[in-house]
Amino acid sequence: MTDPTYDQELHARRASSFGGHAAAYAEHRPDYPQAAVEWGLAGAAHDAREVLDLAAGTGKLTQGLVDLGLTVTAVEPDEGMLAQLSKLLPDTTALTGKAEDIPLADESVDAVFIGQALHWFDLEPAFAEIHRVLRPGGVVVALWNHDDLTVEWVVEFSKIVRTGVSRLFRDENEGLSAAGFEPFEDHEFPHTHRRTIDTLLATVATHSNFLVAEPAERDAALAAAREYLLAVPEAGAGEFDYPLVTTVFRARKSESGGRGSSPA
Ligand SMILES: C[S@@+](CC[C@H](N)C(=O)[O-])C[C@H]1O[C@@H](n2cnc3c(N)ncnc32)[C@H](O)[C@@H]1O
Repeated sequence: MTDPTYDQELHARRASSFGGHAAAYAEHRPDYPQAAVEWGLAGAAHDAREVLDLAAGTGKLTQGLVDLGLTVTAVEPDEGMLAQLSKLLPDTTALTGKAEDIPLADESVDAVFIGQALHWFDLEPAFAEIHRVLRPGGVVVALWNHDDLTVEWVVEFSKIVRTGVSRLFRDENEGLSAAGFEPFEDHEFPHTHRRTIDTLLATVATHSNFLVAEPAERDAALAAAREYLLAVPEAGAGEFDYPLVTTVFRARKSESGGRGSSPA
């Protein structure tokens, strides 16, 4: 993170917190809109066929890439997350690995996708590795699902559950750049997640700030969130569409292939 006051030890604990709750993650986290994935792919200079899903988790984004008929390799450091991915997508190549040391050959993919995870990477070595595995003209695509903060009751809810690390990263990195890549472009896509009060709280409980919280603190925040939702007409009557926005950043690897010319 760019904020020097950010607690690095906590950051590392949050980055590795998901695997112990991989089944809940698989059940309760949202997928990504197909239009967002396609916009990312369209950033490549040529037709993208072979793609890497980096930090693939339980396969939420991997599934969307497979559905587009792409040849997908999933890379993920956590064995628990990877086991869920292989259960969902048994025919997809799934490798253990980290963004800072990607287990793929040089110039072997047309696109590198990163769902809800760029904020966990050590950016300098990660972008060097992403650059290495991409073919010239290939594209790096980072996506995040966020609460839709144009909706008043969602703003209040999101204040109660305070799960903002990815949004914080997004806001701090409006000027994101990486050596050897053309400038990043970004675009937002409307999205929703079909939820009930119970399943929305189950989703929130898979966010890293809840996974690393003391049980008493976590339970108190979830109780406050439930009380708030019970008073919200949009959420009170069984199933509802929780309003999300999917933000996508994409940047093309320079056709020249080198890393010397752009700012890091
Ligand atoms: C919020 S999950 C996102 C999973 C999946 N991409 C999705 O969209 O649902 C973040 C994932 O990043 C992984 N991760 C954390 N640090 C990483 C790193 N340095 N390199 C690669 N993956 C990492 C975690 O293990 C976790 O599976």
